[in-house]
Amino acid sequence: SAAEKGGYDYFMLKEIAEQPKAVADTLLGRIDAAGSLTLDEVRIPVHELREVDKVVIVACGTAFHAGLIAKYAIEHWTRIPCEVELASEFRYRDPILGTRSLVIAISQSGETMDTLMALRHAREQGSKVLAICNTNGSTIPRESDAVLYTHAGPEVAVASTKAFLTQLVACYLVALYLGQVRGTKWGDEIQAVIRDLSQISGEVERVLETMEPVRELARSLADKKTVLFLGRHVGYPVALEGALKLKELAYMHAEGFAAGELKHGPIALIEDDLPVVVVVPSPRGRSVLYDKIVSNIQEIRARGARTIVIAEEGDEAVVPYADHLIRIPATPTLLQPLVATVPLQVFACELATARGNEVDQPRNLAKSVTVE
Ligand code: G6P
Repeated sequence: SAAEKGGYDYFMLKEIAEQPKAVADTLLGRIDAAGSLTLDEVRIPVHELREVDKVVIVACGTAFHAGLIAKYAIEHWTRIPCEVELASEFRYRDPILGTRSLVIAISQSGETMDTLMALRHAREQGSKVLAICNTNGSTIPRESDAVLYTHAGPEVAVASTKAFLTQLVACYLVALYLGQVRGTKWGDEIQAVIRDLSQISGEVERVLETMEPVRELARSLADKKTVLFLGRHVGYPVALEGALKLKELAYMHAEGFAAGELKHGPIALIEDDLPVVVVVPSPRGRSVLYDKIVSNIQEIRARGARTIVIAEEGDEAVVPYADHLIRIPATPTLLQPLVATVPLQVFACELATARGNEVDQPRNLAKSVTVE
């Protein structure tokens, strides 16, 4: 009913709008007054977390994209090797797991059969399993050794939005916590990022306030057949998520690529007026990464692409190469997906509406896939 949708036309719009609160709720009670993380609820003893020699993340769909982003954070802040695998592939390749492996199963519903089978396989090998889940008492957390709940609240729309942002938050918390308990040379950075993370829901809110031009752009592209998405570093999984949203909702051909791979194939797809969304990392700090993506934008534009550039406020160097510019607030590099994903959700939702599609119930898809 309209009341359930909180005055919005679709659950998806409501859930996009709820993201600042979902993010804040997922942080609530997990950062203490001194700015340290308190994750006692994760009932894996600290001495065991100190001994973890490998992290393996398993998930499906949008949750898998959260896992891809988590890998960058976990390896950077903890120096523990981290693999991310589609749950449906994981157990069929005889993965190498041991008692010091920490397996993280990410699932909004807690009922995805592929993810459940992957975690059962991991536990049979003696690994500890931590679930990141949005549904209290569902099967995946019940069968795991520990759980960190995301507090997105119920997500009704099939295409995941607020659950994804809270999965990212939970992944960052786990990565920072592992860094905190193990002590790494990134101690100061970890402290600073915890501070930024505690402010991030306000930044998500600011992004939501500036989405009208994105909706207008989406409507203008309703007749297109293909949209490509490019990113580097954590912007790469954001590009994959942007493309997935567009497939799910708009039924358009959409693909995400690592921008560095352009020259190895995808650049052959560029033709006149092809919309290409590019997620640009912060110009501060990692300048090599930044310069490379700016030259990627120049390359595709020279070949006729219509460039849709998602760039940090104050980034002026991209302006000459952006046919459309979408601004996001400055964040630490690893946290950027929390703000960069939001315009892509709005973009896909509006494009689907413009094409007359059923936003909350896309054809052929299910919210929770309980078969293998
Ligand atoms: C389905 C949904 C996706 C979701 C995926 C994983 O395919 O349509 O939106 O990302 O399952 O679901 P989970 O509940 O495990 O996060």
